[in-house]
Amino acid sequence: GRTVEYWLSAEEHPCAPDGYSRTCMTFNGTIPGPTIIANWGDNIKIHVTNNMVSNGTAIHWHGVHQRNTVLADGVPGVTQCPIAPGQSMTYEFRATQYGSSWYHSHFSLQYSEGLFGGMIFHGPATDNYDEDLGTLLLQDWSHIETFNRWNVAKLGRAPTLESSLINGTNTFNCAGSTDPKCIGGGKKFEMAFTPGTKYLLRLVNVAIDGVFQFSIDGHSLTVIGADFVPIRPYTTSSLQITIGQRYDVIVTALPSPSSPSYWLRGGWISRCAPNANIASITAIVRYNTSDTADPTTTSTVTPSTHCLDEPLASTIPHLPLDVTNIPPPNLLLENLNFTTASSFFQWTINSSSLVLDWKSPTMDHIFRNESLFPTPYNVVPIGRSSPDAPTEWAVLIIQDVGTINLAHPIHLHGHDFWVLAQATGRWDGTTNSFNTRNPTRRDVATLPGGGYLAMAFQLDNPGAWLVHCHIAWHASQGLSLEFVEDQGEIVGRVPEGERSQFERVCEGWRGHTPV
Ligand code: C2O
Repeated sequence: GRTVEYWLSAEEHPCAPDGYSRTCMTFNGTIPGPTIIANWGDNIKIHVTNNMVSNGTAIHWHGVHQRNTVLADGVPGVTQCPIAPGQSMTYEFRATQYGSSWYHSHFSLQYSEGLFGGMIFHGPATDNYDEDLGTLLLQDWSHIETFNRWNVAKLGRAPTLESSLINGTNTFNCAGSTDPKCIGGGKKFEMAFTPGTKYLLRLVNVAIDGVFQFSIDGHSLTVIGADFVPIRPYTTSSLQITIGQRYDVIVTALPSPSSPSYWLRGGWISRCAPNANIASITAIVRYNTSDTADPTTTSTVTPSTHCLDEPLASTIPHLPLDVTNIPPPNLLLENLNFTTASSFFQWTINSSSLVLDWKSPTMDHIFRNESLFPTPYNVVPIGRSSPDAPTEWAVLIIQDVGTINLAHPIHLHGHDFWVLAQATGRWDGTTNSFNTRNPTRRDVATLPGGGYLAMAFQLDNPGAWLVHCHIAWHASQGLSLEFVEDQGEIVGRVPEGERSQFERVCEGWRGHTPV
């Protein structure tokens, strides 16, 4: 197939995306970075150069399965060493799925500083829409560099965030402020609509800890995809979207609009991030592009009162999957909790936190054929019963046993998963409540606060893969588990050139002296 190529430069810049100045991390100078666009089946080559002063980095292509290309997954401490300042690395992988997503730094809190961009893989042509408006990236935004808030997060309180961005822009009200950093001059993101036209919008939540309820005043949304998975279209007035999730929606512009412009609302849900107090996350849809006034429309959407996912399970029999005859060969129960036993706050899974060794990532140990991993914590071997076994499944149940009643967006690398159960309270230890007829398939699902999430995935991709909470603070506080899938088959799938790049990047990082 075709090869598409991109060049990304990770940089640090002064910025004021909403009119409040601070320092950002960017790809090629902008937030978001350039959108990666490819066709289903394309080979994708992305050359990343780290032009930051002292930070290492590594870039993850969220939701991409990385079949036979585990070294391109971009997880420092697992699939690579961080790329040292001044050095480059080429990520090469295939678009084996289609739909919408994002790419982001997987190094500590860097994506919260601006190191992310949209990603679109065009699938089979459809006549569902007239125009593709591309990705709409929704996020909360901190006025203080998130690394400077790490000490607060470490003590267990999610820091209060001040603002929000849609596609990297918003306005923050500086009226009456004496803060010299509040310079004003931000703007709302705008889209122009022509009456009757059908637009495709690709919603992505790229937040630190915000959950959103997306809507456009006066318009309905026809949902055709969730994460990288096509679904049977259904129509709704709003969509709840947690961190890392995506929805492809078709919006038909009103044939005869009664207003020159309409508010598009990110709809931040306060209960899902109790300490946040962010400014309104809105953008503008204009029918009359010579009009510059703010819309005067109001929302008729009922604000969500829960932190759960869209109930797709009952509505998406697009590609029904009957998994009734599939026994759960690996029923893993992992208990999620938190501890303050060490000097700071950590999330735990089965009593330990994932600790990654950036100088000696898991793949390094796999190349050396070592059975001992750098981190004894939360590294779980899984795999098929034999290399030629037919489809086999892993079933992972994460039970929240903590006393903090907080929903967690759980993301799995290297696979989609089928949501067999997602409920509050304790799992009863049986598969009686599992939906095995036509469950939702995606790559991020919400673990309800105090509840459990049962995820099934096919053991079809040997590699080293994370499953983690996508709340940026929590991922950095160890709320993560690592699977080493079919360890004996991993090395044979890595092309020679990729292994030498892996070694080169690690040598660069080991030789790098922090400034
Ligand atoms: Cu979007 Cu492990 O990440």
